[in-house]
Amino acid sequence: MIKLERVGKAYRSTERRDVPALFDIELTIEAGEMVAVVGPSGSGTSTLLNVLSCLDLPSDGRYLLDGVDVGRLSKRRLARLRGRLIGFVFGNFDLIPRASVQENVELPLLYRRAGVRRRRARAALDRVGLRGHYGDRPVELFEAQRQKALIARALINDPAVLLDDDPTGGLDAGSATEIMELFAELNEAGRTIIYCTHDEDVAAWATRIVRMRAGRVVSDRRNVPYRPHRPRRPHLRAV
Ligand SMILES: Nc1ncnc2c1ncn2[C@@H]1O[C@H](COP(=O)(O)OP(=O)(O)OP(=O)(O)O)[C@@H](O)[C@H]1O
Ligand SMILES: [Mg+2]
Repeated sequence: MIKLERVGKAYRSTERRDVPALFDIELTIEAGEMVAVVGPSGSGTSTLLNVLSCLDLPSDGRYLLDGVDVGRLSKRRLARLRGRLIGFVFGNFDLIPRASVQENVELPLLYRRAGVRRRRARAALDRVGLRGHYGDRPVELFEAQRQKALIARALINDPAVLLDDDPTGGLDAGSATEIMELFAELNEAGRTIIYCTHDEDVAAWATRIVRMRAGRVVSDRRNVPYRPHRPRRPHLRAV
């Protein structure tokens, strides 16, 4: 599904020297894995996710996505491949306060017919447990529900891979558990999930934990994923 071969990434800096952020990353991720990427601040976890999302291209090495070398594609074909395979939750691309939850989730489908947009947005909202909240404004939602709306937006094209940079950042423990329960469900339904976190309890839900330090992968291990012993239907639980 995903294969990085000796990938390096350097940021163009305003000064003369480039800022290297990733070195020699070798990483293969198979369909159906749930991978947590963990590292101290500045270790390159977001940079890695941005490369995996095809928002940024590697400066060195190759990124094969579904067998295709993304560095060799035209912008147009890259956008098409990315749209088909990758859903990315942008932490900094927040919900528009004046728009309804459904309108927010419809955003990536701007150029589709209204009926298609509505149907797909509602299906995505149902998938994350926000049935009944289509017409709410973001401010009417709990923090975890807002996070789920962002996840619904990333799921709108039914991507094979879901990427999320710090899905539980700023959430209390209970809300974080709700998000991770959702990820576990999506993963058990076959979706590949890759997320960054600083929280070991959040990483514990993954089937694999990749640890980074100073732009390198320093550990990459299978993990017996944490699953709480209770029915995992958070959206049906009484509030
Ligand atoms: N747009 C950019 N321009 C220049 N340097 C950058 C840019 N983005 C990140 N960097 C640098 O690249 C390195 C890795 O940054 P990155 O954001 O990937 O770290 P991170 O692991 O996500 O950190 P955090 O956990 O705090 O989010 C850091 O040294 C950072 O300063
Ligand atoms: Mg980061």
